[in-house]
Amino acid sequence: MQPISGFSKLNKKEKINWLTENYLKDSKQAKKILKQYWNDDAELQRLHDEFSENTISNYYMPFGIAPNFLIDGNLYAIPMAIEESSVVAAASKAAKYWLDRGGFHTKILGNKKLGHVHFMFKGDDQKLKAFFNSNLKDILKADTSSITKNMEKRGGGILSLELVNKSAQIPYYYQIEAKFDTRDSMGANFINSCLEQFAKTLERELAKDESFTQEEKDSLQIVMCILSNFTPENMVRAEVRCKVEDLAEEGISAEEFVEKFSLAVKIAEVEPYRATTHNKGIMNGIDAVVIATGNDFRAVEADAHTYASKDGTYTSLTHCEVKDGEFRFWLDLPIALGTVGGLTSLHPLVKFSLDLLGNPDAQKLMGIVAVAGLAQNFAALRSLTTVGIQKGHMKMHLYNILNQLGANTREREYFTVFFRDKTVTHHAVVEEFMRIRKLKSLDDL
Ligand code: MEV
Repeated sequence: MQPISGFSKLNKKEKINWLTENYLKDSKQAKKILKQYWNDDAELQRLHDEFSENTISNYYMPFGIAPNFLIDGNLYAIPMAIEESSVVAAASKAAKYWLDRGGFHTKILGNKKLGHVHFMFKGDDQKLKAFFNSNLKDILKADTSSITKNMEKRGGGILSLELVNKSAQIPYYYQIEAKFDTRDSMGANFINSCLEQFAKTLERELAKDESFTQEEKDSLQIVMCILSNFTPENMVRAEVRCKVEDLAEEGISAEEFVEKFSLAVKIAEVEPYRATTHNKGIMNGIDAVVIATGNDFRAVEADAHTYASKDGTYTSLTHCEVKDGEFRFWLDLPIALGTVGGLTSLHPLVKFSLDLLGNPDAQKLMGIVAVAGLAQNFAALRSLTTVGIQKGHMKMHLYNILNQLGANTREREYFTVFFRDKTVTHHAVVEEFMRIRKLKSLDDL
């Protein structure tokens, strides 16, 4: 096998030919699979091709709906793009559960995003401080006015600029730390453009300033300019609350349920092994809505996990308490989302999702996403501390195996009843399937 140069310059057909001929045994079959996922609508296909680079096909994800979410008094049907079975079912179940108990409540805890110009300066720290605090901030703002004009019209813009001395961590390391309000956009482009202009201004103004020696001027080195995906000042809280007695269920008293549920949360608060799985379940809900609404799930993941480990030990993102007979369960989530820009007006399904949610602004969407995460966690903990997680999962496992076997509707119904009181294993399903179809081997299918 030889490396290829100019792959990106090949057209789609040439790319597929090269790929299938060089990497895949059955190139005819490989081409068939890739083409199966092309869209007949050439315009729509072109749109998808252009979202990324070197595209050769589309990758589908199931797009499901979790209805009955009562959030701050409004009813939502939440769109979720996720491949894992049971997630949408669990969200829907939690939504219904809380529908009868007052629904979900959200609160914005901050709307500031951060970015940094990271730079090195081998000179007098006091002079640098005086230079920054004289009128540099005004010049930095003035130089970015063409970038910030529209954002300011929408009520956002640069909120603050600070010089941060980080030389205790790395010798000569400083930052310009900038805080922004990016309104309904996620803000990455806006923030990064401002930061790159700040760096140019810093270089130009420091070179002109007579308080610095030539050596000090020459020592300035811009390392990089980039937003931070950690947004502890851009936070939302999602919460549910009800009287403890309202949590009683068939087979378990309210007190027993609350005790086990609270212990499950406490365990995730102190035990990183459990916290990782606990938070993964929360992200099942969060990512699904983030993807459906065309937002950057990698940024959302990074943000959440940094927050979960901000005190030095990885811990639970959700918490609960019981006070004066009331049960409260909440999620505090730093998250940066956009409802304008990016994919939001380009991807037809993203537009559909935002329409379905009533075209929320970024803060409302933050609340909806956090609610999906909290609901997911509630559903997981409710199952884990009562019937166990496998009951729900096994049903989906059974359907996946039956799908692979090509079972018909009647057979699916039969198997649902057959496995009601038995453990679902691949072997057991295949054995029963062969028995009822009177097959000697699956090759006879
Ligand atoms: C599975 O995707 C998520 C769970 O493991 C979450 C949890 O254990 O809390 C069920």
